[in-house]
This record gives sequence, structure tokens and C-alpha cells, in this order.
Amino acid sequence: MSYLSHLIFLLLSLFFCEARAGDNYDERSIRAKRQFLVQNFLPEYGSWPEGTVNYFFDNATFDFNQQKSVLNAMEKISSHTCIKYSTEENDDVMLNITSYDSSNCWAAIGRVGGRHQRLNFVKHCYSTGMAAHELIHNLGFIHAHQRLDRDDYLIVNLETFSDNARPQYIIHRNQWTLVPYDYGSVMQYALTDDDFVPRDEKYKETMGSEIVAFYDYFMINQLYECSCANENQIECKNQGYPNPAKCSECNCPLGYGGADCSQRPEPGISLEATNEWQSTNFSLDAGVVDNEVGKYRRQIDFIYHYLWITAPGNKTIQVKVQEMSGVECSDGCIFGGIEVKTKNDNRLTSPRKCCDQKSEIFESRNNPTVVMAFNSLGLDTYNIEYRFTD
Ligand SMILES: *[C@@H]1O[C@H](CO)[C@@H](O)[C@H](O)[C@H]1NC(C)=O
Ligand SMILES: *[C@@H]1O[C@H](CO)[C@@H](O)[C@H](O)[C@H]1NC(C)=O
Ligand SMILES: *[C@@H]1O[C@H](CO)[C@@H](O)[C@H](O)[C@H]1NC(C)=O
Ligand SMILES: *[C@@H]1O[C@H](CO)[C@@H](O)[C@H](O)[C@H]1NC(C)=O
Ligand SMILES: [Zn+2]
Repeated sequence: MSYLSHLIFLLLSLFFCEARAGDNYDERSIRAKRQFLVQNFLPEYGSWPEGTVNYFFDNATFDFNQQKSVLNAMEKISSHTCIKYSTEENDDVMLNITSYDSSNCWAAIGRVGGRHQRLNFVKHCYSTGMAAHELIHNLGFIHAHQRLDRDDYLIVNLETFSDNARPQYIIHRNQWTLVPYDYGSVMQYALTDDDFVPRDEKYKETMGSEIVAFYDYFMINQLYECSCANENQIECKNQGYPNPAKCSECNCPLGYGGADCSQRPEPGISLEATNEWQSTNFSLDAGVVDNEVGKYRRQIDFIYHYLWITAPGNKTIQVKVQEMSGVECSDGCIFGGIEVKTKNDNRLTSPRKCCDQKSEIFESRNNPTVVMAFNSLGLDTYNIEYRFTD
């Protein structure tokens, strides 16, 4: 991506992927409870009773493709949590998913009320990840970078933001912290050079992700007290936990699959490292949506490819991304990229890579070491080398 289009994209992502603290409700004081905001003067507004969100699409303004990304995001959330999306009419608050405000995508934080509380999408939010972002606001969550502990993870020069943008970056004082900070959260904005950057430089490209993170689902389950009646029904491996949406299966850290998280998800390949460099190639073809321009050419969701690299006990696995072609550089790697799971805690997002094309060595003590490539646009091909060292 050229510098200019990169910059324009940055600006777009700044202004089009935001949530206002509630549409017409801005002036009311809103208090935060962990990553969950409640209005303490109306305690009954906040979370959705029994985790059920009744919604409808404002068909007059909302087109079919936009519906697809929203429905896809709803499916993701409801298949990993106890949240239910229902189109059933009720006499209570219903979510009016509309596109009337062409300037912005926004959602109120939580259930703020009004007979038909609105959530607004524009075409710029044409992806499952952005839809999930707004729907997670709607469930009651603020941005990751508005958490109390964000200054431990980010350097933020608040003064440099416009009056319009600044509310999206301030820390909410009254909040709970339900999960560890994850740069890969779908609730984390992309960086803005010099003014909004990760303390750990390796996460520059990770910020602004459109992949719903393991901990994004987990915090929803925490807040809505979603759990399985019989936690012993399945024993989850690799730090997964029983899935409240389907208790016979686990919610797994990304890169782990099978009912109990002990299997490599498909498609992919399992490889055995030796102390010599070995090489593997793979590609992911996401195709192109041909009737749109620019960023809308991508698919509304990613396709994935997984490597599981094993080594004998107590070795360090090295993974070298020797070549990566077709991968379009973008903040949050929204067109595709690769993540080598180097962090010991595999529930957290490890640094992702989609811009710097020069080869880089990742080191991991995880066995297996998981490599996850993802793509939403065109053909990406990779040449990966791997070995173990002591
Ligand atoms: C909107 O359109 C969908 C089909 O695209 C339909 O199922 C739904 O009932 C419509 N909603 C309203 C409120 O008319
Ligand atoms: C949904 O919101 C749009 C935009 O404000 C509005 O025009 C429409 O009438 C609303 N639908 C209902 C049923 O309230
Ligand atoms: C992988 O691709 C590279 C070029 O990108 C090539 O040099 C190498 O031989 C390929 N390796 C395998 C195992 O196919
Ligand atoms: C790995 O190292 C630890 C401590 O150095 C040792 O206790 C353990 O037995 C080793 N495991 C293997 C499989 O060699
Ligand atoms: Zn937002």
C-alpha cells in the first residue's frame, strides 16, 4: 500500500469504526464497570436481559451485503457465548440496525434503551470483524484502549486527537477489567503513528484487528455469566474452556481445534522440526469481490491456514517467514497476515505480520508452535522455514 493510501486508510479506520457512547445519549453520564459500561442512574439498562438481543434491520437503508457481515458476526458471537440474537418482536428494547447516518459506524455501549435503540453501519464497516466490534459495544463493552490499564500497553497522546475522535480514546474511570490486555482484540483501534502506538513495538501491525479474539468471547461470557452447567462434561486442552453455546465442545485459543482443543484446525499441516532448517510452502486464495473498489474488494471474513510445528522436549522452535507474497500491508492486517504463536499464554494474540516483507525469525517455547495465516483478499503465498535449537 502506498504511503498515501495507508494514511487515508488510517484516517478512515479512525473515524468510521467508532462507537459513540450512545447516539442521542451522549450527554448522559455513563459509568464504566470493568470493560463494561453501565449507566448507574439506570441500572436496568446496560446488559441485555438473559443475554438476548432482539433486533431488526432497517431495510430502507440497509443493503443485503451489509446484512451478511452483521449476520456473520452475530453467528460468531452466539456460537461462542450464551448471547442470543432474535428477530422476534417484543415490547421491550429492540435493536434497530440501520445505515441512516452515512458518516459513521457506531453503537451505544450496552442496552441504553429507547423502544428502537439504533446501531449504525455504513459501507466502510463492510466486514465481519467491524460488525463484531459494534455488536460487542452493543453488549456493553468499551474499547480495549479505554481500559484503566491501557497506559501499560500503549503510548497515547490524547491532545493530538480531534475533539470528535478524542472520546474514543479516553479512559473510562469506573470499569472492571475482565480479561488480560490483548493487542489483538477486535475492540482495539489501529495505531496512529507517534500518537497512538503500542509500547511493545512488535504489535504495531496487530492493533486494529478484525479477528474476534479468544478473550473477546471470554469477556462476553464473563459479563453475561455464561457457563456450562456441567463443567466436567468435556475436559478442554490448551487452555480452552467449555463453550456455553455448546457444552459438549470447547472454546479454543485461535489455532487450536477439535472438540477439546487438542487438534490442529483444518486446513493446515503438522510438521516435525529438526535441528536443520526445513522449508514449507503454502498459499491461501481468498479471491476478490469483483464489483467493489479498494478495501471493499475483500471478503467479509478471513480464510485460514494452520501449521503445527513440533520438536523434542525443552527445545526452542524457530520459525522464519522467508517469503510472503500477495499479502497487503494494512493496520490490523485486515487483508491478511501471519501470526506465529510465540507467547507462552496461547490465549493471547502474538505479534502479527503483514507489512515488513523482509524475513524475520520468531522464537517459541511452545510445543507445538502454532502458526496461523489468514487472508481476506486475493492470493497469499508463504515460504516458511523452521528448526529447533536448545
Ligand atoms: C428486512 O428484510 C429481511 C430480508 O432481507 C426480512 O427477513 C425482514 O423481515 C425485513 N425486516 C423488516 C423490519 O421489514
Ligand atoms: C430505524 O432507524 C431509522 C433511522 O433512524 C429510522 O428511519 C427507522 O424508522 C427506524 N425503524 C424503526 C422501526 O424504528
Ligand atoms: C518454496 O518456495 C520457494 C520460493 O518461494 C522455493 O525456493 C522453494 O523451493 C519452495 N520449497 C518447497 C518445499 O516447495
Ligand atoms: C526440561 O527441563 C526441565 C528443567 O530444566 C527439566 O526438569 C525437565 O525434565 C526437562 N524436560 C525434558 C522433556 O527434557
Ligand atoms: Zn468502537
